[in-house]
Amino acid sequence: MVKMTPFLLVLCLALVAHGFSAKKCVLTGRWVNDLGSNMTIGTVNGQGEFTGSYHTAVTSTTNKIRVSPLQGSQHRTNQKSQPTFGFTVNWSFSDSVTVFTGQCFVDETGKEVLKTMWLLRSRVDDIKDDWKATMVGINIFTRLHSQE
Ligand code: BTN
Repeated sequence: MVKMTPFLLVLCLALVAHGFSAKKCVLTGRWVNDLGSNMTIGTVNGQGEFTGSYHTAVTSTTNKIRVSPLQGSQHRTNQKSQPTFGFTVNWSFSDSVTVFTGQCFVDETGKEVLKTMWLLRSRVDDIKDDWKATMVGINIFTRLHSQE
């Protein structure tokens, strides 16, 4: 029988209790970001892959905004409570593509929040304009709750 000091026993119990109580951040659902853009993420499959849709509130073009598809994956260690993830939005109303990467956190109040960075690649006609074709930024998403 392995001998444990009372201190170690209490530490182990605290760690186990924390493991059981730690709220998990789940990507599936509806989210809104700091720009007012909305996205819906579907079920995350066994490989960590997911699809969804993105309704941006803003555009760098003069085109009429339309809902666009997204495809992504969360890190395979999905038993982790605050997973990292990435997804691509293939804009249906422009020639651009945006990639987002981030982490799904549970904040100190227990609220889920997605902290992301993105690269928006626009199409340019001339290779000489390549230098100005990519924008970078951050977005913070919080969960959109339907009438609760
Ligand atoms: C385009 O302008 O060509 C497509 C729309 C791009 C919208 C960008 S993606 C990064 C940022 N976050 C948003 O929610 N919308 C903008």
